[in-house]
Amino acid sequence: MFVQWDPGQAERGGYPHFMLKEIHEQPRAVRDTLSGRVHPSGEGVILDTVRFDPQWIQQLRAVYLVACGTAYHAGLIGGRLIERLAGIPAWTEIASEFRYREPLVDERTLFVAISQSGETADTLAAMREAKRRGARVLAITNVVGSSVAREADDVVYTWAGPEIAVASTKAYTTQIVALTLLAVHLAELTGFTGPLGRKNLLESLRQLPEAVEAALHVEEDIKAIGDAAGGWRDAFFIGRGLDYFAALEGQLKLKEISYIHAEAYPAGELKHGTLALIEQGTPVIALATQPALREKMISNIEEVRARGATVYAVVRRDLSGFERYARQTVKLPVVHPLLMPVVAAVPLQLLAYYAAVAKGTDVDKPRNLAKSVTVE
Ligand code: AGP
Repeated sequence: MFVQWDPGQAERGGYPHFMLKEIHEQPRAVRDTLSGRVHPSGEGVILDTVRFDPQWIQQLRAVYLVACGTAYHAGLIGGRLIERLAGIPAWTEIASEFRYREPLVDERTLFVAISQSGETADTLAAMREAKRRGARVLAITNVVGSSVAREADDVVYTWAGPEIAVASTKAYTTQIVALTLLAVHLAELTGFTGPLGRKNLLESLRQLPEAVEAALHVEEDIKAIGDAAGGWRDAFFIGRGLDYFAALEGQLKLKEISYIHAEAYPAGELKHGTLALIEQGTPVIALATQPALREKMISNIEEVRARGATVYAVVRRDLSGFERYARQTVKLPVVHPLLMPVVAAVPLQLLAYYAAVAKGTDVDKPRNLAKSVTVE
């Protein structure tokens, strides 16, 4: 039988799309980004490409994390980690907004530019504005020698390998890993001993590649939801705390490759308006990976179910009580709560992927979008 030769097959490593290949590359990408950066003692991190002066650290007033799209979502998570671990106020902003709002940035500011390509025009412009105002600039990027890498004072590379699909996956999860390392590094320098022990976080960080590998085992369950999602008109993603940030990334993934309208909301915010949109059969993807917020999330799921929503719960597997309200409950491996957004990304990426396949869209090159937006 003559098999139609597809030259891309080899490049895609046998996967039907680059995006699916890159989703499956995440265990290795996380492992490579961690490699050599967690001290063998498990007590600290090694970021030898970052040279913060201890005196400068003592007068550090704020951290701004600035990026676009998926990188912005990683920055939201990174900002929360920096506040919780290092006790430094952190603001995360969309690059195209930051540069036009007269930001309160000066030499007492650390400006973190997050960009997979390192060439995004809005992020570069925001970084240059921060530098002009005296901030120290650190770049988190996946491309060695990229513009943000060359113009920053410090660089923390994500070692995700080339990311071809327009929809970012392994760059996002490795950005969160890099931001976690940065947050711990800042905590070590500030001597901040917050309520969260760094040792167990670092232990969990070291196990993250295996947890991401284990999360990939939900693929068949997610494919079933993705097949159904092909018929969705709208979808809502809800979560609290870090799960809200993960929900923001999930909605972007779904809409940018399947063209299904999707929105993310803090679960506690629904009653302030969005609940009006929930009707019989409205799909709601509910994220619940944070033990401290479990009860609240159960009541929010009850809230939308009572109005007819079809709920798909994505939960940390040790958190019970969701099955009774969800059509399907996807259970994820247990890692430190602060690291759950990395694990939770996997089912949401797979959901977007299989919804797009069901709809027959161009998964790797979705309409109207580019891999790197080098124009403003
Ligand atoms: C991600 O899926 C999107 N393709 C897009 O939002 C992207 O994250 C954004 O354009 C930022 O790109 P960068 O990380 O290369 O700066």
